[in-house]
Amino acid sequence: MVLEALHAQADEESLFALIAEGLEQWGYIVLPKGLPRHLIDCLQTLHQRERERFYAAGVGRGSGQSQNQMLRRDKISWIEETDTFAEPWIAWTTSLQRYLNRSLYLGLFSFESHLAVYEPGDFYKTHLDAFRGQSNRRLSLVTYLNDEWSEEQGGELVIYRPGADECLTKVKPELGTLVLFLSEEFPHEVLPAKSQRLSVAGWFRINGSSTTLVDPPS
Ligand code: OGA
Ligand code: MN
Repeated sequence: MVLEALHAQADEESLFALIAEGLEQWGYIVLPKGLPRHLIDCLQTLHQRERERFYAAGVGRGSGQSQNQMLRRDKISWIEETDTFAEPWIAWTTSLQRYLNRSLYLGLFSFESHLAVYEPGDFYKTHLDAFRGQSNRRLSLVTYLNDEWSEEQGGELVIYRPGADECLTKVKPELGTLVLFLSEEFPHEVLPAKSQRLSVAGWFRINGSSTTLVDPPS
């Protein structure tokens, strides 16, 4: 369900309430201009710093470069919880996690996220972020940092109806658009971008620990 940008001025509580309602009713929600301003600033700073590092290091980035070039072509960099520049982002996702646990009993336990850069021609083919029983990712969150984005630039995130080929929505990767969906339910893909496309993707996880496995690993 795509909500209008009515909530541009929404306080944190009302924004979280909208997200909870969307997830409860439809399992996914798209909020244009949903990301609060201070988080846009925070994530843009992280992206900027990452790109400087990237250019300083020359071509290729080893571990950041994805393994499976057929499936995905983006370059990623994980956001470290201990990074002081990431503090506002970590604080906000922690509050959201707490809110969703209280309102929807999702039992979310931790959050991980990465910056992603799609260069022209890059894509991410249809995939699920989690397979039932094989992953502890429950809720996916994606947001974008592209100041201007026109139709011709492509790079839309397409979300499909669970178990069907039907497109539920096509999201333009515009600055501040927030997308959340249940990780195990919604297949999605990123269409080839025609210009550089910056995004941040994150996952709320449940605690998959058992007596024989400590998860997430410390
Ligand atoms: C992902 C993903 C979507 C996007 O990284 O798993 O689906 O729009 N990203 O960048
Ligand atoms: Mn994904």
